Amino acid sequence: MERKTSRTKAAVPVHLYGMPARLKEIARAGVPVLEDAGQAHGSDAKWGRCGSFGVAGAFSFYPTKNLGAYGDGGMIVTSDAGIAKRSRLLRNYGQHENFSSEILGQNSRLDELQAAVLRVKLRTLDDWNRRRREIARMYREAFDGLPLAMQAETGTSNYHLFVITTAERDKLRAHLASLDIPTLVHYPIPVHRQRAFREFNPGRCPNADSLCARVLSLPIHAFLSNGEAERVIDGVRSFFKR
Ligand SMILES: Cc1ncc(COP(=O)(O)O)c(C=O)c1O
Repeated sequence: MERKTSRTKAAVPVHLYGMPARLKEIARAGVPVLEDAGQAHGSDAKWGRCGSFGVAGAFSFYPTKNLGAYGDGGMIVTSDAGIAKRSRLLRNYGQHENFSSEILGQNSRLDELQAAVLRVKLRTLDDWNRRRREIARMYREAFDGLPLAMQAETGTSNYHLFVITTAERDKLRAHLASLDIPTLVHYPIPVHRQRAFREFNPGRCPNADSLCARVLSLPIHAFLSNGEAERVIDGVRSFFKR
């Protein structure tokens, strides 16, 4: 928030990989906080559930999320009546009443079938998150002392992703692939280097540049067995023992 100017209207912190962002510190900047809780269903921070602190929070129900629909979907949560009203307008062509748009909106309604799927899956979200946390605990204990870094635990993550960083990311990735252990990179190109954002100075975000070259997401999901997690652990350990 050091870069706050008179044009700064809001802060949009991301609970990245499910780990609670430091919202209390960010809120000290004195601008409204809009939480991107797109990866943080059921994550807990010291101040409460992710999504419940800011003036509004947004969740994604994309199928790969901890709470995922069978197609696209999402949700805005807010206690602000004005934001609630405007969100309802925006999701439905800007219409309060049929065939009469008050503002420019779009079709962003959550359809009934997706809502039905999510309603059933919501019952098991806490159990699935508990299992993800068990796996994360195994990884954290096993990797302690290895030359890699893990996310600081700023709260209770839902461990949507388990991401490590190492300067040898690409070599480690190839080593794990040779052992049939799939990994992903979240994310390979920082926002300020994407064509759509070319108005931004490409030299402006050195931390994002460095992290995009070092991050690696290891397998984690609610149905990963202990044996499979141990195979991942052995794979990572064997790489650093070379
Ligand atoms: C942190 C975060 N914010 C926003 C989004 C966008 O969500 P959606 O694809 O449902 O619009 C995603 C989806 O990947 C995300 O991970």
